[in-house]
This record gives sequence, structure tokens and C-alpha cells, in this order.
Amino acid sequence: MTVAVQDTLQYQSGFGNRFESEAVAGALPTGRNSPQQAPHGLYAELLSGAAFTAPREHNLRTWMYRIRPAAMHGRFAEVAVPHWQTGPFNDAPTPANRLRWNPWDMPETPVDFIDGVRTVAGNGDAHAQVGVATHVYAANQSMHRRYLMNSDGEMLLVPQQGALRLHTELGRLDVAPGELGLVPRGMRFRVELLDGQARGYICENYGSPFRLPELGPIGSNGLANARDFLTPVAAYEEDDAPVMVANKFLGRFWQAEQAHSPLDVVAWHGNLVPYKYDLARFMAVGSISFDHPDPSIYTVLTSGTDTPGVANCDFVIFPPRWLVAEDTFRPPWFHRNVMSELMGLVQGVYDAKAEGFVPGGVSLHNCMLAHGPDAATFEKASQAALAPHKVKDTLAFMFESRHVFRPTAQALAAPNLQPDYDSVWAGFNRHFERR
Ligand SMILES: [Fe+2]
Repeated sequence: MTVAVQDTLQYQSGFGNRFESEAVAGALPTGRNSPQQAPHGLYAELLSGAAFTAPREHNLRTWMYRIRPAAMHGRFAEVAVPHWQTGPFNDAPTPANRLRWNPWDMPETPVDFIDGVRTVAGNGDAHAQVGVATHVYAANQSMHRRYLMNSDGEMLLVPQQGALRLHTELGRLDVAPGELGLVPRGMRFRVELLDGQARGYICENYGSPFRLPELGPIGSNGLANARDFLTPVAAYEEDDAPVMVANKFLGRFWQAEQAHSPLDVVAWHGNLVPYKYDLARFMAVGSISFDHPDPSIYTVLTSGTDTPGVANCDFVIFPPRWLVAEDTFRPPWFHRNVMSELMGLVQGVYDAKAEGFVPGGVSLHNCMLAHGPDAATFEKASQAALAPHKVKDTLAFMFESRHVFRPTAQALAAPNLQPDYDSVWAGFNRHFERR
């Protein structure tokens, strides 16, 4: 189904669908993927996002019908992108500390999306196709005659300030704060800033592509519904002026000149697609009796591993919701987990912290590091009247991984790293009485 979401852009809805779209009538072949002569003199080209022999439900691929083959570019030469790092992350010892950062500043000189990426922490290895990198981006310039393809992984974008227009090979996608956007591994795109400047978070996923989690006993409805994911319709650039295409490949950036726009796909069909999702559409489920459930109930997307239930990365949100549980400490409990947690805040306040975790900031609680509510939150929540309570004005999220997040040297040296995060848990009063 095609839905017109706004005046200028159209989207197709669903997750995991086999979509098809043509910007020129008749451009999409019928019955064959690669006919001897594709319609309108187009070139047929396959983009695979899975091994050819992956099971059907995991198999991702899209056929593109384009003005020129993507192969028509010059030799790649390495270029410097100084703040975007790639696993393995071993440029600094990984502290056994809980860490928190204030927001990164907006740039003061012209910076586009690529140069505005700063790597906070990551795990795994792009070469082994395991793990993720987490970045923040802050940019004040649209990518001009410059395109990116990320051979190392798909990119999950979480805008925090300023909307992005993603011009991709398969069409255009507007992603604003409160939404997520995803560009598949290897898909060419450029980022236009719709509000002059933009800041947000990125999960660069080297592992299995994100997909919707299984719902188990929740049943056939709930969490993120497939129909709320939006994929572009075909839209192409017919621009025969030289451009640069940057290829992020094993952590280095290689750039080649191309005599035309790489976004020249006139028609396409397949299920390897960019998409967006409005996080306000997430159907939160929770306790209607007692106890604070595990945060896995807020999983929007998951990237699995070979071990069932153990994620390479889960993308989890903490959206506005009602809290109704009886005789329950309602904020997150004190805990230590085998999984590692890197959190960001899109807007508002997070219900486990009274202060210090602000929109655009990051907190990191790695494997087995003790954390939970701060003292002010504990005192308040343990005394609060337990009437139904709506948590409003909040949108926090978490990248949760089986692999320890290793902060980069630049993040550990960043002036916005808070020096005293441990003090959050310093002020707990002793309440114990032996009767
Ligand atoms: Fe946690």
C-alpha cells in the first residue's frame, strides 16, 4: 500500500514486505528480474543484504533499474574522516566505570553529516560483521555533491535535533526527532538538513540486520507494528555533473569521482530498503499488577546473533506511558547485567535520573557495572503515592548489546564527559533497622 504522509514525499508501509515502486510508468519489468533489455533502456542491478542462500525470512535483496550501473565510477582513494571510528575498538583501555556525557556542541564551522559523526563507543569488528558502533552526529551543512555508502554496516539514525532528508537510491525519506531512520548496508545516500542544523545518534550495525522482535506471549499485536514502518517510493536524480561517492570500508573512507548522481534508480523491487518509524506509534506494554518488568518489553528492533535471545544489539525506547503497578518501585531497579547498555535521550526527562542526563547526552553502563536510579529518584519513588501516573515529556532509548561497549579515546578525552558520574549513587541514606 502506498500512503501520502506529507505533501512532497510518499511512502509505502510495512516491515519486511517485498515492495515495488517505479518513478516512470513501465520502468519495472514484469515476470523477470533481469530481462535481456530492461524497460526504458535502464540497467538492472541487484543489491544483496544477505547471503544468497539465507533462509527466506532472513533473505534481503532489492533489484534496481537505473540509468547507469553503480559500477561506473573511478578509482577509490582514501580520504580522512577524523572522528568516525570503527571496530575493533582498542585505542583506549575500556574503563570499568559508569560513564556519562553531556551533549556534544554544534559545530561552529561548516560541517556535513559525514564529517559531523563522532564515535562514542563500540564493540565487535566490522571485518567479522559482529557488533555495533555508536556515534553522535552534529552537522550544519547538507552533503553537497557528496554521497555515502557504508560497506561496514547498516545505519540506524535517531535524530535528536533537526530533521534529516535522506536521499537514497530507493527514494527520499524525511526523519525528524521522535522518529528513527535506517539506511541498509551499502546503499548510497546523501543527507540534507531540513532545519539548518542537526544533531542525533547513530547505531552502525556490523551484524545481522535489525528486524522486529518476536512477540511471544504478547501475541500478534503490540510493540512496533509492521504497518507503521515507512519505505520510500522510487525517486531519482538525473544529474550529469561530477560528484564524489564515499565508501566506508573496514573503517576507512575511500572516495571516488563519478560523472553523475548515484541516485539514478528509476524503479526497484525488493525487501532490502531504507525505512523510517515514528516512535510515538510504539505500543508500550507493561505491568498492570506489580513489579517493573525487564526493559526488553520496549524493544523496537533487534539484531540477533547465532545464540537465540542474545542480541548483537537491541534498540529499546522508553516512551511516554502510564505506570499503574501496585506496591512497586516503579523506576528501573538497581541492577547489574551481562548485557551492556548505552543510552541516549531525545527529549524530556528520563524517569530513573533526577538530573544530569539531558537531551543529546549519552550514558554508558557496561557489563556487570552496578547502576540504577539516583538517590533523589530513589527517595521520591519509594515514598510516592502509587496512583496511576503518566510519564510524559520523555523519549529515552538504549542500544543494548551482548558485547561490551568500548569508549573511544576521543570520547574519553571529550570535555563533555562528566567527571563525577559516580556521585549519582553516592548519597543513599542507610535505612536498615535490625528489629
Ligand atoms: Fe540498566
